[in-house]
Amino acid sequence: MISGIWKEDVSLAPYTTLKVGGKAKYFAVVKNEEELKEVCSEARRLDLPVLVLGGGSNLLISDEGIDAVVIKNEIEGILYQELDDEVLVTAGGGEVWDDLVSDIVGRNLWGLENLSAIPGTVGATPIQNVGAYGVEAGELIESVRVYDIDKDDFITLSVADCHFAYRDSFFKTAGGRRNIIVSVTYRLSKKPRPRLLYKDLAEYFKAIANPSLQEVRQAIINTRAGKFPDWTKVGTAGSFFKNPIISSEEAAELVKEYPTLPVFVQEDGRAKISLGYILDKICGLRGLREGDVGLYEKQALILVNYGGASALEIKEFVQKISDAVFEKTKIKIEQEVNCW
Ligand code: EPU
Repeated sequence: MISGIWKEDVSLAPYTTLKVGGKAKYFAVVKNEEELKEVCSEARRLDLPVLVLGGGSNLLISDEGIDAVVIKNEIEGILYQELDDEVLVTAGGGEVWDDLVSDIVGRNLWGLENLSAIPGTVGATPIQNVGAYGVEAGELIESVRVYDIDKDDFITLSVADCHFAYRDSFFKTAGGRRNIIVSVTYRLSKKPRPRLLYKDLAEYFKAIANPSLQEVRQAIINTRAGKFPDWTKVGTAGSFFKNPIISSEEAAELVKEYPTLPVFVQEDGRAKISLGYILDKICGLRGLREGDVGLYEKQALILVNYGGASALEIKEFVQKISDAVFEKTKIKIEQEVNCW
């Protein structure tokens, strides 16, 4: 059965929003659980690693390509289950994320609206605990159905199993990477539950009390349009780096030197600081461009491939940026984007 979907030497750059990278030794688009299982058993037979591609919107693939079986997850399907004040929605890992959010908002269900207009697929949301405008996907996730490559079995993980943290989860650990996300169940609310505290939203709605769900979604779409390049036209993967989380003492030292640096105190007392601010206001790097690689002129945390950048050029550029931040702040920054 897999003969129809199994391909060799497939160029991966077009499958990523950064538009960079070489070929996959093997490549298969899977549309259901049986195909997923079969492709994985073929990979096992060939003794090759399996890597899963969703929307390719958080991925930097090396120029040399990869000796692996790359699976493009196109498992679809959306199922709504009514509870009293809530609704559980289960979506296939291959569903386009913003189509799901749009559908949910259209049904007047609250919870995911702040995550509007994010490129990528449902299957990616638990992996990096996608977050924006004061909401993280993990807060809404009820459970995740996965295919365990090693056990050759499908299992359901509870939210506690997922170990969600800022841009992090169980799925990013060595053991977690052995799980392929088949579907995700989110718990949504029928009652209004606006989350408007994020600076940009508070500003947007300062003169509008009790905005509707559609208005919140529109506010997010408008805000993002002002800050992000159009990923259908320019190569980008959104924020390229994570915002650093440092000790409260280190943050206090930095604030002494840079009093307007945005600092967000975390539950554990540590401080998340805005790398976009550091790159822009402290290092003066916003809009920096070298060849076809640059930091976006409207938001310095966003790396842009203006055309023909290679993965090597991007990595060299990223090293320079990391060195510049370290020189000014002594912080070692981490990438948010995954590298293959
Ligand atoms: N800032 C600057 N200059 C810049 C960029 C930012 O001064 O060039 C300042 C802003 O003025 C603001 C602060 O830095 O005071 C934070 O900026 P922003 O609100 O734009 O958010 P961010 O921390 O840069 C994060 C997420 C985004 C998410 C936004 C909105 C990460 C790594 N990034 O960016 O997520 O959309 O918040 O919630 O946490 C992504 O993960 O790919 C992503 C785009």
